[in-house]
Amino acid sequence: MTVTMEKVVNLCKRRGFVFPSSEIYGGFASTWDYGPLGIELKRNIRDSWWRYMVTSRENVVGLESAILMHPRVWEASGHIAGFSDPLVDCRVCKRRFRADHIPEKVDRQCAKGAECDFTDTRQFNLMFKTFVGPVEDEAAVAFLRPETAQGMFVNFLNVQQSGRLKPPFGIAQIGKSFRNEITPGNFIFRTREFEQMEMEFFVKPGSDDEWFEYWREQRMNWYTQRLGIDATNLRFYDHPKEDLAHYSKATTDIEYRYPFGWGELEGVANRTNFDLKQHSEYSGKDLTFFDEESRERYQPYVIEPAAGVDRILLITLLDAYREDEQEGEPRIVLRFHPRLAPIKVGIFPLLRKEGQPEKALQLRDILKERFAVFYDQAGSIGRRYRRQDEVGTPFGITVDHQTMQDDTVTLRDRDTLEQIRLPIDRLIPELIQRIET
Ligand code: GAP
Repeated sequence: MTVTMEKVVNLCKRRGFVFPSSEIYGGFASTWDYGPLGIELKRNIRDSWWRYMVTSRENVVGLESAILMHPRVWEASGHIAGFSDPLVDCRVCKRRFRADHIPEKVDRQCAKGAECDFTDTRQFNLMFKTFVGPVEDEAAVAFLRPETAQGMFVNFLNVQQSGRLKPPFGIAQIGKSFRNEITPGNFIFRTREFEQMEMEFFVKPGSDDEWFEYWREQRMNWYTQRLGIDATNLRFYDHPKEDLAHYSKATTDIEYRYPFGWGELEGVANRTNFDLKQHSEYSGKDLTFFDEESRERYQPYVIEPAAGVDRILLITLLDAYREDEQEGEPRIVLRFHPRLAPIKVGIFPLLRKEGQPEKALQLRDILKERFAVFYDQAGSIGRRYRRQDEVGTPFGITVDHQTMQDDTVTLRDRDTLEQIRLPIDRLIPELIQRIET
């Protein structure tokens, strides 16, 4: 079985994970809306990241900074001068390409049949520009942030002083970023509006190489151990020195094997003291740290693991997607780690009589306090299982004739298909144990 983008895109639309944005108007330029199951999956990804990166650690705290920031931020960070991609236009078919992403020959054919005739390359700044207030002049220009990271740098002093923090410590943030990408595509892989999960970890210069190694490993472990992603679909890619971004001493990407090839999932960078130094210079504020114990003053170096929620959501779908056969019928199943599954438990009365639906609804009301549950009484039990398998629901509970006599139910496992019988009052601990391990 080959997992294609097409299969996943279709499933997402059919079952309410992701829809094309503004679809009734024909869609809108590589923008996507997350449906009822998509937002649950997204929330589970964010929660897992937050728990792993922030709440389970003593030295990382959270932040939520504004999307609109002072325009000087982007001068200091280097985004106004340098955050651009090389752009070329075809003079004949008028299509626009990133000069470093020009497709193979077949796609270069113009509408007129000839090969594309490209203009010279020019640099195109990726930041979205807008105006603050009613007057659209240069003084009112603002930008939608192209990364969440700068929010952490400009709040370095606020967070450090209010929390009495001492390096090594981190500031983490989850939020939307915007880039006017020249060639968005591959579904939610590259879009113009996306969500990032970034953490800036401030360390004493000299300890930065060691922390860089630490975070590289930690981040890979999160994918394999917490999200259950197949390790053979992940790899590190160390950027060669000559390709490093202007702020970076070392960068490693964590890459995933997408249907269209290996590609970036997350970047881990040693940003040195570049950002704090720049903001000190541009703002005139002293963004250094004074260590009371050693009586040393220094500008911390920063290790940054930067991930994209949308890309992670895409790989959880690609990695989980399977097609098989159950009882002679084809089945699509999403083998999500139970922690990620948008719905944890399907609840089914076997029959629509003998009080079974009422009993199953009572059970739903008890379980919904703890888990995302879905009640279904329509169609054969096999069909109902398959509908839940297709959206990755790891557990199915069936209320049957015996339930009405001894208060036991069957619990079905999506992957092993094993069914065990257990008393209703043991369900909650059993489910907690299965979801959390
Ligand atoms: N602060 C560093 C930074 O923003 P990046 O490698 O440009 O680094 C980090 O972005 C992550 O954000 C990427 O690894 C990717 O997961 C996600 N990302 C970046 N651009 C994206 C886009 N246009 N669409 C979807 N996700 C994107």
